Amino acid sequence: MTSSKENATTIDEIASGIYRISTPVPPTAIPGGFTFNQYLIVDDAPLLYHTGPRKMFPLISEAIASVIPVQSLRHIAFSHYEADECGSLNDFLALAPAAEPLCSTIAKMVTVDDIAIRPARALGDGEELSLGAHVVRWIDTPHLPHAWECGHLFETTTRTLFCGDLFTQGGHQHEPLTTQDILDPSEKMRSGLDYFSQTRQVSELMEKLALTSPRILACMHGSAWQGDGAALLRQLAGRLGA
Ligand SMILES: [Fe+2]
Ligand SMILES: [Fe+2]
Repeated sequence: MTSSKENATTIDEIASGIYRISTPVPPTAIPGGFTFNQYLIVDDAPLLYHTGPRKMFPLISEAIASVIPVQSLRHIAFSHYEADECGSLNDFLALAPAAEPLCSTIAKMVTVDDIAIRPARALGDGEELSLGAHVVRWIDTPHLPHAWECGHLFETTTRTLFCGDLFTQGGHQHEPLTTQDILDPSEKMRSGLDYFSQTRQVSELMEKLALTSPRILACMHGSAWQGDGAALLRQLAGRLGA
């Protein structure tokens, strides 16, 4: 699915069994350009983290189909309830009969069990779920960076933190996985468009994420990043005034 076409959807393995799907949106459509990423964990119980906006469903389902049958998905997981996180939730649930939404307890209670065509499976804070070879853990982070129901998923065997909207980088040209700095580019984005809530818990919540000691930060917008994730999360906490 990786294509040389500048604006094509790409899919690349960034850790063992974990694929980053990315669709670039050029500056003619979104000022400065932007990317929407989803992550696919290929395992006995395949998991899709974020569906992408509903209008991108054909692109994202085609990218998944280049690796596994879309019908084999078992979990459609997401950080919080927004169009780019879960806009195609029902489209994927319709295509994959054994799939269920996977989200926070608050997301299930407040929204997902009302809008989804099948009930959600909620994971409590710190709860783990085996997918086969991979194990994912849910981490509640209400309002970080935004939304009451917000949380992040951590894959324990590859130490990949699916950090959602944290470290959002503008622009539409990004390599799948980088070791270059993503903090300054994401802070530049935040300075023009502050998408963080002003939660008083920011210090505790950022430290909770840092304590997972991730080796990969799987960002939803921009490149995924490889390095000392705990150190980078603590640097971001410092910039947030925590
Ligand atoms: Fe968001
Ligand atoms: Fe997002």
